[in-house]
This record gives sequence, structure tokens and C-alpha cells, in this order.
Amino acid sequence: MKIAVLHPGAMGASVCAALAAAGAQVFWVEDGRSDATRQRAQAFDSLPSLPALRGNVEAVVSVCPPAAAQAMSEAVHATGFDGWYMDANAIEPARAQLLHARWGERYIDGGIVGPPAGQSGTTRLYLSGPHAATAAAWFSGSLLEAVPIDGSVTAASALKMCYAAYTKGQAALLLAVRALADRLGVGEALVSEWALSQPGLNERAAASARGVGPKAWRFEGEMLEIARTFAATGMPEGFHLAAAEIYGALAGLKDRDVGLEDVLGVLGKAKNAE
Ligand SMILES: NC(=O)c1ccc[n+]([C@@H]2O[C@H](COP(=O)([O-])OP(=O)(O)OC[C@H]3O[C@@H](n4cnc5c(N)ncnc54)[C@H](OP(=O)(O)O)[C@@H]3O)[C@@H](O)[C@H]2O)c1
Repeated sequence: MKIAVLHPGAMGASVCAALAAAGAQVFWVEDGRSDATRQRAQAFDSLPSLPALRGNVEAVVSVCPPAAAQAMSEAVHATGFDGWYMDANAIEPARAQLLHARWGERYIDGGIVGPPAGQSGTTRLYLSGPHAATAAAWFSGSLLEAVPIDGSVTAASALKMCYAAYTKGQAALLLAVRALADRLGVGEALVSEWALSQPGLNERAAASARGVGPKAWRFEGEMLEIARTFAATGMPEGFHLAAAEIYGALAGLKDRDVGLEDVLGVLGKAKNAE
């Protein structure tokens, strides 16, 4: 098959590699992308811009910042592209439903759990909808395990929201609490108490800072998707609205080599300095 991935970011490039390993000819679209994307996409075939998708590929897989997922879908749809459209981003089920309404039978819902797939067993692409099994075959035998799941057309997005609600929500909570302690002047005391009664929590805070700091700019949008997912089911949205605020405050750490001190430098200082 001929399949385009929009766009080869850290995860998108590993999706490209998985499709190629499964036998697809993989394309990416150059227009508007940075040198970093260009570097990651070197092994794949390029198309100049979105209108070139039509007639050149049979399927499009969208892997982009969640906040851009719907605009991406609209832009591709506007070209008249008439193949399969898979959204594999962390978006709320209601938004996935809008994409489904836009693409109809040609829509495949996806949600990725795990890091960019560099070895087998780490990363799953959950797929839902009537054509989930068809799309799973595009990844057959690759390092990215494609897993069709039962339920509604947008079940894959729902699962991704639930998964990330905990992993990224708890990381934001931990960093916010650690910063709160600094603001109140009890940072060292909290670290000492954690070492006694919450073994491993200090290390987890440091690991969370390293893990989420460089990607926080993208997580703000993802937390807003999760907040709306909670609200749509009648549950409180506030946890993840706050997490969005925390990640938004850290957006300036984008793509940097980040440690806990950098995160506390942003979150922990304001009132402490008074
Ligand atoms: N990375 C992970 O560990 C991970 C894990 C699970 C799920 N995911 C999902 O994968 C998706 C993307 O993650 P990623 O790690 O590939 O992100 P990334 O490394 O930040 O790459 C994002 C890609 O999208 C492009 N992009 C940036 N702004 C855009 C916009 N406004 N419209 C369209 N494209 C845009 C970027 O291009 P330029 O920078 O060249 O402009 C880049 O090629 C997200 O939905 C995320 O939830 C990622």
C-alpha cells in the first residue's frame, strides 16, 4: 500500500518505520515542516503539499500535536482526498466523532500508547471502528503492535484519553506539589519526608520532569482534550484543566534537555521569591 504519515515527528517517524517494515511505501508531506521533521523523514518518499495526497496514496495516518488534529483532518479533506483517513492522536472521543462524521466509512480511529517504537513490546496502536482490523494489517509484523478493540467507532480515542488522564495527569500533580512545597519554603522538608514515607517519589518527580518537560507544550492541548472527555461524561474536568495550566506554564522548555531544577525554576519560584 501507499500510505502517508502526517507528520514524521518523534512518534510519527516510528509509525512511518513500522508501516515500511510491514511492506508499505511510506510518504510524508513537506509543506510547512521544519528541518527536524525533514531529517526524521529522510528514509521516506516526499510529497510537496497536501493536494498531492490525492492520487498518490491510499491512506493517510495523522500523527501530530492533538491541538492540530482536527485542522489537519479538515485540510486533508479539503483537498478531495478519497482514501482511508486514520487519526492516531490523543483527542477526545467527541472530536473523533466529528472526524468520523467528516470521513464516514473511510475513518479509522486510533490511539497510541507507549514511546516511539524502537523495539517490540513497548508500543501499541489501538484501533477502533468497522475497519480497525483492515488498518491493523498495515502494521503487521512491525515493532508497532496494532490492536483492534471492540466498542464504538471512537473507542481507541476513549482508551487513549483514559490512559493519558492517569499517566500525564499524575506527572503534572507530582510536579505541581513539588513546586508548591518550594513556593511555601518547605521543599527540602518535603523531599526528606518523601524519602522516609514515600520511597521513590523524589526519583519519580525527577523522572517526570525529564520525561514531560520537553513535551509539555504539546501536553497542554492533550490535557484540555481529557478535561472535555471528563466533562462530556458528567465527571469533574478540573483535574485536567489544572494539568493543562501546569503544562502550559512549562511550554518554554520545548525540546530542551530538562531536569527537575528547570521545572521548579518555572513552577516553584514566583511566590517563594517574595
Ligand atoms: N512521542 C510519544 O512518546 C507519543 C506517545 C504516544 C502518543 N503520541 C502521539 O503522537 C502524536 C505526535 O507526537 P510526536 O511525538 O510525533 O510529536 P512531535 O515529535 O512533537 O512531532 C509533531 C509533528 O507534527 C508536526 N506539527 C507541529 N505542529 C503542527 C501543526 N500545527 N499541524 C500539523 N502538524 C504539526 C511537527 O512538524 P514540525 O515540527 O516540523 O513543524 C512534527 O513533525 C500526538 O498526538 C501524541 O499524542 C506520542
